Amino acid sequence: MINPFVMVIFGATGDLARTKLIPALFSLYKKKQLPKDFYIIGFARRDLINDGFLQIFESLNDKKEWNDFLRYISYHQGDFSDEKAYISLTGKLNLLEKNNNHLNFLYYLATPPVNYLEIIHGLQESELIDKKKEDIHRTRLIIEKPFGKDLETARNLDRKLSENFDERQIFRVDHYLAKETVQNMIAFRFANGIFEPVWNNNYIDHVQITWGEVKGVGGRGKFFDGVGLLRDVAQNHLLQLIATIAMEQPKTFSKEGVRDARAKAIKAIRGISSKDILENIVRGQYKDYLLEKDVSPKSETETFVAMKLFVDSPRFKDVPFYLRAGKKVPKDVVEISIVFIQTCHILFKEFGCPEIGNVLTIHIQPDEGIILRVITKKPDSKLALGTVDMKFTYQEEFGNKGADAYEKLLLDVFDGDQMLFNRSDELESSWELITQILRGWESQGPVMKFYDSGTWGPIEANRLIEKDGKKWL
Ligand code: BG6
Repeated sequence: MINPFVMVIFGATGDLARTKLIPALFSLYKKKQLPKDFYIIGFARRDLINDGFLQIFESLNDKKEWNDFLRYISYHQGDFSDEKAYISLTGKLNLLEKNNNHLNFLYYLATPPVNYLEIIHGLQESELIDKKKEDIHRTRLIIEKPFGKDLETARNLDRKLSENFDERQIFRVDHYLAKETVQNMIAFRFANGIFEPVWNNNYIDHVQITWGEVKGVGGRGKFFDGVGLLRDVAQNHLLQLIATIAMEQPKTFSKEGVRDARAKAIKAIRGISSKDILENIVRGQYKDYLLEKDVSPKSETETFVAMKLFVDSPRFKDVPFYLRAGKKVPKDVVEISIVFIQTCHILFKEFGCPEIGNVLTIHIQPDEGIILRVITKKPDSKLALGTVDMKFTYQEEFGNKGADAYEKLLLDVFDGDQMLFNRSDELESSWELITQILRGWESQGPVMKFYDSGTWGPIEANRLIEKDGKKWL
């Protein structure tokens, strides 16, 4: 049973609300997963009236259900720094509470991060944050990444959050944690006894993580140009993917049990010295990036990174993790490959072994699923070896690719379940590493390498892995 709620979406005319939040809320509504009483208030600066606001979501307009859903949404125009905007918001919320005194108040920060502090200030000044212990669960703050620009700003933001909210009220979103395939990693690793014994440096040669998008920055130039791919994707999604592979078994399958294990894994990622940054981190920009809308013509923002990292835990000591992530690459794909040490040659050297033997690939998206590549004797041959794939896909097995990440996150917010949300120590560790890279880039002058759109980044990304005698799969 989900409690009735009012959700105020700050930045409601922006990309996130348009492409993720409102569609997810609408989909939950269609599936009858929202309570009878709920209200969505879109808070933004643009001078719109209700109808103008709702037109933004026209593409969702599927017949009668959309019109029904509109009854629950309204627009609140105001500047995030304007006290009056919060006073009138308070008036609206009080009115709603009068009709339903069981309402939860959910404040969703879907704005660019520069607005976070003023919104928190506005909420605090207008006493919209309920700090009474007995009522703490009724008010929740949902905040999107990036949380800060570097370690220092992340710490400042966190300080502000903890001054104003109890930790149980803060929901720090990394939507990759809610992807079905990412959640499945805990089940896959710890419910199947056959993987645990080989999940370590005795058996694993290296790990590869590839994250790619065919599209460029599109309409998000303004946001992206101030952030860059390292902060936009690596600091959060990619490090969390490392954590799913590197973490130890949680003590309990509980909110803190899982968050402890994740935090420990991220903390164990080895720091990187300025010297190693040149060796182990590649920074790239696609060639026509400077022509993108709202991008500075002199921009030095990266749209691609490749990295070689290590996790200093007994389990993964000296196992390299190679990551590459970029916009305008050949394929929309997110996948993790665990490449096992090749043992085929022990018995079959003279017959010829495939170059790469066992690989376990987790397709985060698309084609959500898991593939285990094994070596096999080719039929009808005296002895010739090749590889075959043992494959499971969500689509074939369950008839769909799993729940949408934002739907899952919203349900957890309604429910007050923080397991799939970042804790502040996870963020602190991830920012420590990312800030070392940012500082290294600053001190080393132009380290940018350029790449053609539609390729897998600059040539240096290949060299990064090939100099270790390995290849991107
Ligand atoms: C967001 C990034 O966090 O994730 C975007 O800000 C990126 O740049 C998006 O496009 C990708 O999300 P998904 O769920 O489509 O993989």
